[in-house]
Amino acid sequence: MSTEINFFLNDKREEVSGIAPTLTLMNYLRRNKRLTGTKEGCAEGDCGACTVVVGELEGERVRYRAVNACILLVPMLHGKIVLSVESLQGPGGELHPAQQAMVDCHGSQCGFCTPGFIMSLYAAYLSGQKPDRQRINDLLAGNLCRCTGYGPIIEAAERMYDLPRPSWDSDRREQDRERLQSIATSETLTYSNDDQLFFAPAGAGELARLYDEHESATILAGATDVGLWITKQHRHLPQIIYLGRVAELKKIAIEGDVMRIGAGVSWVEALRSARCCAGSGRIRFEIAERLAETSQMAHRLEMGRQPSSRWEAALSFAKVPRGALFLSKTSSSIMKSRIARRARLWKR
Ligand SMILES: Cc1cc2nc3c(=O)[nH]c(=O)nc-3n(C[C@H](O)[C@H](O)[C@H](O)COP(=O)(O)OP(=O)(O)OC[C@H]3O[C@@H](n4cnc5c(N)ncnc54)[C@H](O)[C@@H]3O)c2cc1C
Ligand code: FES
Ligand code: FES
Repeated sequence: MSTEINFFLNDKREEVSGIAPTLTLMNYLRRNKRLTGTKEGCAEGDCGACTVVVGELEGERVRYRAVNACILLVPMLHGKIVLSVESLQGPGGELHPAQQAMVDCHGSQCGFCTPGFIMSLYAAYLSGQKPDRQRINDLLAGNLCRCTGYGPIIEAAERMYDLPRPSWDSDRREQDRERLQSIATSETLTYSNDDQLFFAPAGAGELARLYDEHESATILAGATDVGLWITKQHRHLPQIIYLGRVAELKKIAIEGDVMRIGAGVSWVEALRSARCCAGSGRIRFEIAERLAETSQMAHRLEMGRQPSSRWEAALSFAKVPRGALFLSKTSSSIMKSRIARRARLWKR
């Protein structure tokens, strides 16, 4: 059982205790670590000013994602690596291509949004291939800028691939892989501070045990709702069970004409799988179309179903048969009303 939160921040290992488990990564960076390059805009996941890169092991490789630090809780980072904008510069203060391209293309005016954009670009840069224009638009869609009109930033996103890769960044993947392997663990994180408890089970069995023992715990997945309960409603959450390390909830399986999506699968991953199926059969193609449409906020989501019990909710798999999409993970009232609204629109 781990009782400290272990992760890497840039190239340094963090072993964290003595903080509230509901402390956001943004506040941890700015207040505890004085890494003020990460900016606070909305504190609700809208503006992207707080964007950092989070890396985690996926098999043998490191998967990097741009995330909003303002609604990410520090214990959710257990076993991961966080890269803040301060990690980009070279040993002599040299700019990284993602930064240099922004300078060259005049992608920064007042500059408040710039570190966030840079980190979204950096996540793309670490992921390898030069993206096309559509993909660039998508990967910058989570960052808002009031000054530039976006054109110069999109240009910078293309330009950064034309600049030589700096020597200090060339081994990043390999170094991060070794760092992540050094802290990899299959033990449950049981973190406590004052009257707050945070559990991060590493498997379905542990999740079941903890859920039985802590019936009133808040289940936490991506924290895009729960994060706002903390930053906007200042709610006190005495017990939290985080699902992010439960591999069983992250599976997607196709059985006949049914795609089974684990309750911990992200929308992007579900979409990717659905798109892979498109064209391989009439029914699967329809599923793919529906997922793709709903992701673009088209009014096509037919119905939602709430899980019958809390335990089922935690471990259930969402079924996507022909003509219906069942969501097992959305228990918030906001989602219920959104689903109902879309269902009404669909019937019109
Ligand atoms: C900037 C921003 C934009 C957004 N835009 C949209 C939008 O356009 N359309 C839209 O529909 N929504 C939108 N949302 C809401 C967001 O999609 C939902 O908050 C999201 O679905 C919640 O998923 P999560 O994994 O982050 O859940 P969390 O925040 O971790 O949890 C949300 C609720 O679900 C419960 N829960 C989580 N996982 C499970 C599970 N496996 N079983 C049972 N209960 C579970 C939690 O206990 C909690 O009650 C937006 C949110 C933000 C911050
Ligand atoms: S501060 Fe706006 S998304 Fe985080
Ligand atoms: S440069 Fe001012 S908000 Fe983007």
